[in-house]
Amino acid sequence: MVRRATQKGTSNPELDHKTAQGFVAIDSSESKVNHSLPVAPQSLPVSSPANNRMKPTKSKDFPVYDSQKGTIPEVSSWSIEQSEELYRISGWGDPYFSINDVGHVTVSPKGLRGGSLDLFDVVNSLKGRNLELPLLIRFSDILEDRIERLNACFAKAIARYSYAGKYRGVFPVKCNQQRHFVQKLVEFGKPHQFGLEAGSKPELLIALASLNTSGSLIICNGYKDREYVETAMLAQKLGQTAIVVMEQVEEVEQVIAASKRLGIKPVIGLRAKLCAKGMGRWGTSAGDRAKFGLTIPEILAAIEKLRKADLLDSLQLLHFHIGSQISSISVLKDAFREAGQIYVELSRLGANMKYLDVGGGLGVDYDGSKTTYAASKNYNMQNYANDVVAAMKDACTQAKLEVPTLISESGRAIASHQSVLVFDILGSSDVVEDHVEPLTGDEHLIIRNLHETYDSISSENLQEPFNDAEQFKDEAISLFGFGYLSLPERAQAEKLFWSCCHKIQDYLHQMDFVPEELTDLETVMASIYYMNLSVFQSAPDSWAIDQLFPIMPIHRLNEEPVKRATLADLTCDSDGKIDRFIDIRGVKSLLEVHPLKSTEPYYLGMFLNGAYQEIMGNLHNLFGDTNTVHIQLTPKGYEIEHVVKGDTMKEVLGYVQYDSEDLLESMRKRTEVAMENGQITLEESQILLQHYERCLSGYTYLSSM
Ligand SMILES: Cc1ncc(COP(=O)(O)O)c(C=O)c1O
Repeated sequence: MVRRATQKGTSNPELDHKTAQGFVAIDSSESKVNHSLPVAPQSLPVSSPANNRMKPTKSKDFPVYDSQKGTIPEVSSWSIEQSEELYRISGWGDPYFSINDVGHVTVSPKGLRGGSLDLFDVVNSLKGRNLELPLLIRFSDILEDRIERLNACFAKAIARYSYAGKYRGVFPVKCNQQRHFVQKLVEFGKPHQFGLEAGSKPELLIALASLNTSGSLIICNGYKDREYVETAMLAQKLGQTAIVVMEQVEEVEQVIAASKRLGIKPVIGLRAKLCAKGMGRWGTSAGDRAKFGLTIPEILAAIEKLRKADLLDSLQLLHFHIGSQISSISVLKDAFREAGQIYVELSRLGANMKYLDVGGGLGVDYDGSKTTYAASKNYNMQNYANDVVAAMKDACTQAKLEVPTLISESGRAIASHQSVLVFDILGSSDVVEDHVEPLTGDEHLIIRNLHETYDSISSENLQEPFNDAEQFKDEAISLFGFGYLSLPERAQAEKLFWSCCHKIQDYLHQMDFVPEELTDLETVMASIYYMNLSVFQSAPDSWAIDQLFPIMPIHRLNEEPVKRATLADLTCDSDGKIDRFIDIRGVKSLLEVHPLKSTEPYYLGMFLNGAYQEIMGNLHNLFGDTNTVHIQLTPKGYEIEHVVKGDTMKEVLGYVQYDSEDLLESMRKRTEVAMENGQITLEESQILLQHYERCLSGYTYLSSM
């Protein structure tokens, strides 16, 4: 498997409020975007307060079809609030993303602490620095805010339940291994002694070398070999607390043997297969047949082995992970309760228990619905922290035990919000609406039938003409197949069919109730917008596991998005598309977009995609890593901390073992032969070679304008 030398570089924002003393969780009703401390603009405008906007009169103001003129009058009164409602931005984006008065997406990287950037302006200014789209923008301040929120929620829960233990979070490196990201995470995590979790040997190497925070933890998960176990144990000599978590039965012997060989008493943990089952996509991460973890009988056998090896006092941690993106708080509560009892029993059996690691699972509200839908969650970070703390306090109080240090391995809840992928739309494919010409009388019967069908469409009569139009179009195609209809006549029939569909659709937009048979009409007639993006590279989970990410235009949000579209990517794969979008009722198949203008680019943003996407992206069609920038808010605007240029074609070709010099040489030889044969002129051959050479050092994506 070929992979790159450098890989390229998603909760509802939680309900906390930063006070002078630190973060304090508040109720969702109090959670508002606070622009009271805007950062003064430098090159970029600071967004204005959101409270001076007009309220929408209706939630959906569809234009009314004018059958006399055959047109729809322009609706000018589209408000920013309507865009907010349509794209549900406050549901999934608060407090980081909102819309400003000029209709652009605003980013408030420091959450409630003030200061914001106009995303559209940021993108334009980055483009001015030769950073082409698609562009992944990482907002370091969002990462810092997420880390602070999680720690503040646990601090608040610990205070609320008078919990005598601490919280020491760790970040699972698998979620985003990019160097600049991990370095920032370690830096921001320092005040909270935030640690790292490794799920593999290479991730262990990152964790050991990157984490320099005293008192923080390294949790060593995943499959292990002798080298992995010994490396983790030896790291103790560097003053690091690397806890080796035994996830497989065989690892117990491995750890015992390594300890004997090295003469080191390790700190070890056990991953339990809980009965409390996760749900949704990652539901099989728990239960007896889960890939990782020890069943209860296996745990008891492990305890006996450790006792015999005089290492029972090394067993200090109980870990479980019931899956990622757990949507329901009741599932989490069950798991915390079960784990609490196992923890207590391990102590009773003689283990020197000190830590409880609740794994990942803290969800992200991708659709902003606050429900148990797979793309959402019915709890906030504070509820989560409260439940972990309360469950352990209960279990330990009953058993008269000291409470453990609490660890969570929250990945997506930390990493998702900080990155935004911005991409441009290269063009569209639309069902065009042709003007319906009056009949001359010489037309084929099938054309006249379609024409009459068109005339018969009215607000009271939609279903019947739709059925007729479909039938006549099918008949027209059959007639063409048998040679009874000419190509121009077939074209006329098809245009009339689509004109009927347009007219019916315009009436449907005015109706509160859409007949079931006509619900698909909008999908059939939707536009296809071509994205300058590879779904396989930049949003692999959207393709592989139907993960939903909020997607919306980042500008023109004071203008009604009158078109409905699916998004198609640059790859030649029919799967390379996005036709599932967040919606209040679950999922919708079309995104509301604006008509493209020939003189202006059109930018969409994919949000909450900072977890897992970058590393899982693949090189389908050889579209490489996108350009990535790290941005930090400054008192004057923002600073570009790092630019990680996306792959060049030379680089992606190198991943599949092509040497760019060899390729170029081969092209040179071919042009020489073609010149000799008089197939190409010298001038043409030079232009071809220059293009070829320039492409090799260029971005793998298209340049739009
Ligand atoms: C063992 C372990 N810990 C933590 C995580 C992170 O989970 P999440 O991103 O849901 O926080 C995962 C991911 O699946 C995992 O396998």
